[in-house]
Amino acid sequence: MRIYDVILKKRNGGELSDTEIAFFIKGFTDGEIPDYQASALLMAIFFEGMNERETATLTMEMAKSGDMVDLSEIPGVKVDKHSTGGVGDKTSLIIAPIAAACGVRVAKMSGRGLGHTGGTVDKMKAIPGMRTSLSQAEFFSIVEKIGCSIIGQTGNIAPADKRLYALRDVTATVDNLSLIASSVMSKKLAAGSDAILLDVKTGSGAFVKNLENAIALAREMVAIGENSGKRMLALVTDMDTPLGCAIGNALEIIEVCDVLKGRGPADLTEISLVLAANMIYLAGRGTPDECRKLAEEALESGAAFDKLCEMTEAQGGDVSYLNDTEKFARAECIGEFKAERGGCISRMDSEVFGTASVTLGAGRKKLGDDIDFAAGIILEKKTGERAEAGEIIARVYASSEDKIEAAKDILKEAVEISDEPPAKKPLIIARVSKNSIERF
Ligand code: URA
Repeated sequence: MRIYDVILKKRNGGELSDTEIAFFIKGFTDGEIPDYQASALLMAIFFEGMNERETATLTMEMAKSGDMVDLSEIPGVKVDKHSTGGVGDKTSLIIAPIAAACGVRVAKMSGRGLGHTGGTVDKMKAIPGMRTSLSQAEFFSIVEKIGCSIIGQTGNIAPADKRLYALRDVTATVDNLSLIASSVMSKKLAAGSDAILLDVKTGSGAFVKNLENAIALAREMVAIGENSGKRMLALVTDMDTPLGCAIGNALEIIEVCDVLKGRGPADLTEISLVLAANMIYLAGRGTPDECRKLAEEALESGAAFDKLCEMTEAQGGDVSYLNDTEKFARAECIGEFKAERGGCISRMDSEVFGTASVTLGAGRKKLGDDIDFAAGIILEKKTGERAEAGEIIARVYASSEDKIEAAKDILKEAVEISDEPPAKKPLIIARVSKNSIERF
């Protein structure tokens, strides 16, 4: 078999056989298929799509491309969570400690930033000393002792996804349902948890902007997981507006601490409670209402913040930064992005905010770029709020004035101010399980 013929078949709209998909993933993982041919196939899949069978096969081949972790030696139900990616989405670092404080075991592998979206691993590295690469024994022992550990995708967990993910990031092939479903579910299946909560983002800053497509993605991933014996739930949530007020790695860690100390933004706090409650529910800790109460108690009592500190300490991070977030290094340059006219903010385009934050240095433009942990954006206003002409809508942080000016230029496209307030939209749009789709 030649990879050229597999690319040609997909480019011409053909359906790939299980053997052809396995050949691609094995050859790519072994280094026999070079990045340029993998990129060509990704682009062909992007344009021609894959059916459910092809997507399920791609997922399983990617999951099996490395180790399949067996978490059974850790007692209790292990619950994982994954977001399809957003702007200002720092919920994993809030909900893993909440769930752990409620007795749920969370053994989570997270990704780095992708395109205009941030990644949990990049955010964690903003905490001095924090290790996101642990041996399996250390990872298991932290989960067992503390209840949660979040690490990067280790070398041999779905290595095919790890390499394809980095390639998609720089070849404009991220936002395809089959590629997202297989990427997310391959590493979730390989990571070995008993239950998985998916946060499928939709709206301007999401990879899947259209709601019905997001629901279709949620259904496909839930089906793949259930067919592999996992307990699955997916929430479809809004990503039209950045989540919370902070975008950028250290800025987001500060906001995580704010939420866990009970003084975070309302939208981020609410979505974190809903996600945490669903994780606790998946672990079989009670009815949805009982699980929500447990999550609220863990937040209000400070038990969840304590869990974040314990996890940070166990992974080598300097906890004093979490207790006193003033310690985080501030960017050398700070700019102000102001309202051009007075009125009501009717739109804040998350994708444009994400792109501006990459320009500031908070994300990567190409493989291997370094991240500036202090760079990013703080929203002073959010969609639905009033702004007077000249009032600050956002502050931007970077290492140079050039970056500040470039980002401010990009942000001109991000904000719309109208005379009328926008229609209110729910933060949680739908909940998808094996047998149902509830819309809110
Ligand atoms: N998150 C992933 O893990 N993979 C994707 O393709 C998109 C979001």
